[in-house]
Amino acid sequence: MAQKKIQNKRTVLDFIKDDHDRMRSLIRKFRDNLDAKPEKRSALLRRIRDEVVPHARAEEDVVYNNMRKVDAPTDWVYHGFLEHAETEAQLHALEAMEAIHVEWRKLAEKFCDDLEHHIREEEEELFPQVRAAFSHAELEGMADKFRSQKPEIRERGAISNTIAMVGNLVTPSLNEVQNFVREKVTSWRH
Ligand SMILES: [Fe+2]
Ligand SMILES: [Fe+2]
Repeated sequence: MAQKKIQNKRTVLDFIKDDHDRMRSLIRKFRDNLDAKPEKRSALLRRIRDEVVPHARAEEDVVYNNMRKVDAPTDWVYHGFLEHAETEAQLHALEAMEAIHVEWRKLAEKFCDDLEHHIREEEEELFPQVRAAFSHAELEGMADKFRSQKPEIRERGAISNTIAMVGNLVTPSLNEVQNFVREKVTSWRH
């Protein structure tokens, strides 16, 4: 009985899936409101950003970089980092463009398609590799770290988050560099 309870404790992949489901639902709402009033579109973009950015930073630190430490194939890790960077650049561009015009609409549709693609790729390709590389107990431990990071990341400004992404991308073996970047991010939080 006790054993069963331990096995049922949620892992980092369960919490990532919850975030992905929330993102998918917000993307659907955003798609349905591409012709809505600017305030409504902006509010939806802000909600997407508040989901996507903390999720991506915590995912890079807790999942991607732990995978790099166990010597898993890393091509898709860089691919994932690149897609995070592209998603956030698209978000900033959409937020900066005031009026709806052809280019805004094209970018909005591409942003939705690309983010859905990224989420699907993680669930179909990343998840099985993570399950193979770590025990259930390790994945439970990663869940705590993943969840505890997100509120702080949400409070940071865009520049700090860009620096944090670079900090995550630095290979984990370069711990001193990584710690230096983390300290900077903490001190420039806003
Ligand atoms: Fe991701
Ligand atoms: Fe993700």
